[in-house]
Amino acid sequence: MTVTDTPATGMPPLDTRRVDAYEKVTGTARYSADRVPEGVAYAAFATARIGKGRIVAIDTSAAAAVPGVLLVETTFGPDELRDVGFVMAGGHAVQSLQPLRGDHVAYRGQPIALIVADNLVAATEAARLITAEYRPEPFTVKIDAAGADTLLQERAIPLPPLADISIGDADAAFEASPVRITGTYEHPAQHAVPMEPHASVVRWDGDRLIVDDSTQNANAVRFGLATQLGLDPADVEVSSPYIGGGFGNKNSLYGHLGPIAIASRRLGRPVKMVLPRPQTFHLGSFRPNSVHTVRLGADENGNLLAAIHEVDQQTSRHDLFPCEVTTVSSRLYAVPAFRGRQRLVRTDVQTPGFMRAPWESPAMFAFESAMDELAHATGRDPVELRLANDAAADPVTGLPFSGRHLAECLRRGAARFGWDRRDPRPGSMIAEDGTILGWGVAAGCYPGGMVPAVAHITAAQDGTVTVAVGGHEMGQGIRSAIALLVARDLGVPVNKVIVQVGDTRLVPQHLTAGSWGTATALPAVRAAIEELRKALDVTGPGGVDIAAAVRAQGRSVVTAEATTLAPGQTPEILKRLDGGFLAYAGPVYPEFVTFSWIAHFVEVRIEPTTRRIRVPRVVSVADCGRVASPVTAASQVRGAVVWGISAALREESDVDERFGGFLNTTLEEYPVPVNADIHRIEVEFIDEPDLLFNPLGVKGVGEVGMVGVAAAVANAVHHATGRRMHRLPIRLENVL
Ligand code: MOS
Repeated sequence: MTVTDTPATGMPPLDTRRVDAYEKVTGTARYSADRVPEGVAYAAFATARIGKGRIVAIDTSAAAAVPGVLLVETTFGPDELRDVGFVMAGGHAVQSLQPLRGDHVAYRGQPIALIVADNLVAATEAARLITAEYRPEPFTVKIDAAGADTLLQERAIPLPPLADISIGDADAAFEASPVRITGTYEHPAQHAVPMEPHASVVRWDGDRLIVDDSTQNANAVRFGLATQLGLDPADVEVSSPYIGGGFGNKNSLYGHLGPIAIASRRLGRPVKMVLPRPQTFHLGSFRPNSVHTVRLGADENGNLLAAIHEVDQQTSRHDLFPCEVTTVSSRLYAVPAFRGRQRLVRTDVQTPGFMRAPWESPAMFAFESAMDELAHATGRDPVELRLANDAAADPVTGLPFSGRHLAECLRRGAARFGWDRRDPRPGSMIAEDGTILGWGVAAGCYPGGMVPAVAHITAAQDGTVTVAVGGHEMGQGIRSAIALLVARDLGVPVNKVIVQVGDTRLVPQHLTAGSWGTATALPAVRAAIEELRKALDVTGPGGVDIAAAVRAQGRSVVTAEATTLAPGQTPEILKRLDGGFLAYAGPVYPEFVTFSWIAHFVEVRIEPTTRRIRVPRVVSVADCGRVASPVTAASQVRGAVVWGISAALREESDVDERFGGFLNTTLEEYPVPVNADIHRIEVEFIDEPDLLFNPLGVKGVGEVGMVGVAAAVANAVHHATGRRMHRLPIRLENVL
C-alpha cells in the first residue's frame, strides 16, 4: 500500500479521511484547554528556585494582595491530599512526589504554592510574587556526576520483564569474533512539547468530582483522584475526548489535579489550570538521558556472532522509571549470543516517563549506528548486512514472531529510495547544488502491546451506530480507525458512526500508549459488533440496514457489549482494568512474540562551508500488520519521522549542575523542526495482517515510525562526512 504525501487528485475518498477533521479545522473539537465553564477560576503555581533543599520560610502576602486572588495555599495536609503511587510502581500518578505536601524541595521547578484567582493574569502575577527562603542541599542533574546513585535495574525492580536479557555467552562470543565493533552513544534528555500543554478543568456537582483533563489515561486520573481525596471512585468522572498531543507524556495523574480539586471544593466554583510551557518541563514526564555501550562481534562477512548492549538511564531520586532498551536491540537481528545490562541512575529531577518510542528510539540510535559501523568495517552494504542478519524466530525466547516483514521493508525501501545508486565511500557523492550527499539506512522495531478493553455499541432507529470503547484520541486517529471498522463491517456510512473515547462514564479507560491503542480497541469493537449482530438477529457477515434491523426488534435502540483480553490474559486482569491500573501485555505472549517493524532511508545534504545539515528526503516502509486507517497511519509515520529528524538534529533538554532543573524550557530555546526543516517523507506499508496477534491483524504504528530515524540520519551524516556521531543531537560543530 502506498500513501503519497499529497493526494494529487484532491481529497482522499470520504471513507478514508480522518473522521474528526471537520471538527478539528472548524474548532468545534473541544480540548480541555478550550473549556471555560461558567464562573471558572484560574490556578497557577509558584515553583522552587533551588536545585534541592528545604523551604525555611515562604512569603505569600504580596500574592494574596493581588486584586482577584481567591486563594493562596502552600501546604495541604496528609489527610487532605493523600499519597498516590507512581504509575509504573502500581500507583496512578506520574510521579510519587506530590508537591505542596511539606517543606522538601526535591528539584528545581517543583511547585511550592498554588494560587487561584478570578482571572489568569491575576493568578500568574500572584505566582510571581511568592518569595521563599531556602536551605539548599547538594544535588545532581547529570547521570555521569560524582555522587550519582547507580542501580542495577534487575535488582532494583525485581520484575521478570525487566531482568537483563541473556542469550548464550555473549562476552566469550564477542572476544572470539574476527570483527569487533565497540561504541558508546549518548542520547540526551528530551521533553515532549504537545501543542496543548497539560490542561485540566475540575468542578464539583455536590459530592461528585467532574474532571476534564488532557490525559491519555482517564482511568488513572479517576482512581488516582479518588485515592488522593478519599472519594468513592464512583463519584469521580473524567473525560478526555480530544487531546492536543500526548506522546506518552500525559500518562496518568498529574500533581496539579488534587490541589485544584481541593481549591474548587473550597471556593465552590470550577477551577481551570493550563500549565505554562516552562512548567511542563518540570511537572511533565520526559525522555530520560541515557548512555549506551554497544559491542558487536561478527565474522568477516558481517554475520553477527555476539551483541552486548549496556545502558545507564536517568531516573529521579524518588521513583524508578524502568529501562527497556534491550527489548528491541536483542530482537532486531538473529544474534546467537546477546547480553543486555540496564542500570538506572538517580538524579534530582522529576520522574522521567514515556515519550514516543521512549526506549526504542534511543536504543536503535545506538544499535543501528553500531550496525552501520559494522557494515563499514566489513565492506558490506548496510542493507545487505541487515538482510543477512534477518531473524526467522525470536532470538530471546525461541518463539515465532507473529509477523515479521522487516526484510521486505528493507527491500522495498531500498528500491523506492534508489539505494543501488549509492557509492559507499564517505563524502563521494556531491549533489548538483554542491552539497555533500549522505545516504543512510536503519531499521527499527517496537513491541506489539495490547490491553484488555470493553466496547459498548448502540444501534439506533435513525441508522446511527454509537461505539464507546477504551481508548484516547490524542491526534493519532483512533476515532478514524474505529469508525472505519464499524462502517466497513456493518456497511453503514462513516458519518453514521459515532465514536466515544476517553470517557470514564461509559467504559473503563486504560492508558492509551505503547502503540497498543488500535490493536486494543479494534478487536473489542469487532467483538461488540458480533454481539450486536446477534441482538439484531442478523446473522453472517455483510452489510446491515441498521434502521430496519432496530425497528424489527421493536425498540428504539439495540445495545451490545464485549470485553476482550490480550493473548494469554485471563479475566483476573479485568480487576486491574477496573481499578485504573496498568494491565498491558506483550511483546512476549504464550505462543508468539509480536513486534511492528520498519526500515528508514534518509538523505542528508551538508553544505560544505557552514556544514548546515538538511534532510531533503526520507523513505520509510513499515510492517504494522493490516493498516486500519490508511490516512491516519501514514500521518503517524510521517509525524514520527519528523520527530526522529528532530531527535537527531534539534532536541536536547539542557541541564546545568549549578542550577538544577532544566534550562531551555520554552519553544524558543527548545527548538523543534518547522516546515522549512522538513521535506519529502514517503511512507509505504507492507499491509499484511498479523492474524496470530488478533483477528483483525492490526499492530501498532505510532511509535515504530520513530524508531531508527535518528540512526538513519546519523548514518547518512557518516556517509557524507566519514564521521561517526556518538551523541545526539548532531550539531554543526560535530561535522565541521
Ligand atoms: Mo507512548 S510514548 O507510549 O504514548
